Amino acid sequence: MKKRVFSGVQPSGALTLGNYLGAIRNFVELQHEADCFFCVVDLHSLTVPQDPVALKENIKNTARLFVAAGIDPEVSTIFVQSQVPAHAELSWLLECQTYLGELRRMTQFKDKAKKQEVVTTGLLTYPVLMAADILLYNTDQVPVGEDQKQHLELTRDLAVRINNRFQEEVFKVPEPYIPPRNKGGRIMSLTNPAEKMSKSSPNPKSYIALLDPPEVIKKKIMSAVTDSEAVIRYDEETKPAISNLLVIYSLCSGQSIEDITKQYAGVGYGQFKKDLAELVAETLRPLQEKVKELSAPGVIERILEAGAEKARAAAAPHLRRFQEKLGIR
Ligand code: TYM
Repeated sequence: MKKRVFSGVQPSGALTLGNYLGAIRNFVELQHEADCFFCVVDLHSLTVPQDPVALKENIKNTARLFVAAGIDPEVSTIFVQSQVPAHAELSWLLECQTYLGELRRMTQFKDKAKKQEVVTTGLLTYPVLMAADILLYNTDQVPVGEDQKQHLELTRDLAVRINNRFQEEVFKVPEPYIPPRNKGGRIMSLTNPAEKMSKSSPNPKSYIALLDPPEVIKKKIMSAVTDSEAVIRYDEETKPAISNLLVIYSLCSGQSIEDITKQYAGVGYGQFKKDLAELVAETLRPLQEKVKELSAPGVIERILEAGAEKARAAAAPHLRRFQEKLGIR
């Protein structure tokens, strides 16, 4: 039996190079060896205020980007979370097994709560919905970036807790699949290498959006912060900015960081950034062209309808089993 893979991406704003290099690229790799479910997690995006018109478009665009990046809808299941009601149902059942202290401790909750005027309970229970996403599909492996590690630990804790309570495997305990930093696990902001690259950043210069036109990509990379040493060398601690650019270069070119460093020995940051800008623009070009093709009316809608149907069928027995265990079915 093939192993089962599940992952999700929020449709909030434009997806970034961080989303692509840290997660989506690995979705594409995994689809040939595993039975994959890739979800546009629209319910998660509602934990912070969204413009309804923009959200509707972003949901479809996120799905288009999945396909454009190389996820084959004939091979993998691509769907929208809210079209499979079992996610919200299981989330409630899991909330009744989750401790308040566990959720309060989540670093993403603490960070996001600081930035909101009012903090909703959805922001707090966000990781439980994420656990529901994963456990519903009997998932073996979850490809994500480093920032999701703590959420995955909670998912595993919940599965173990429930299995212990019922003295049998009600839910499979999933394994994280997180690339190391030098392989894209945490792509940093172009303007502040102490922060991760994020689509929710108020400064668009800090991230490359996957749909940024080539000239915008070039400007953003040319204005990325570096350091004054002017030596191209990988050192996360002392040279975080240039190390981040090296990771991006390496992942877009397929060359090792060591080879790139050798190639640029004695060459200044200016030339390196110019080449990197070209490389990133070229890497994203085919993806951007494919998104255009997928924007014809009805194309992505049909893919998502078929995906939701498959997902509903795959999720149903796992929800049912837990409902039976709990005595509500
Ligand atoms: P989201 O939408 O913030 O990000 C989607 C994926 O991209 C990864 N990522 C990054 N990787 C490397 N460097 C970065 N700068 C970077 N920024 C984002 C994220 O780690 C993620 O893998 N809670 C999740 C969505 C989710 C989910 C799930 C994931 C909901 N349910 C179930 C896996 C399984 C999130 O907000 O990802």
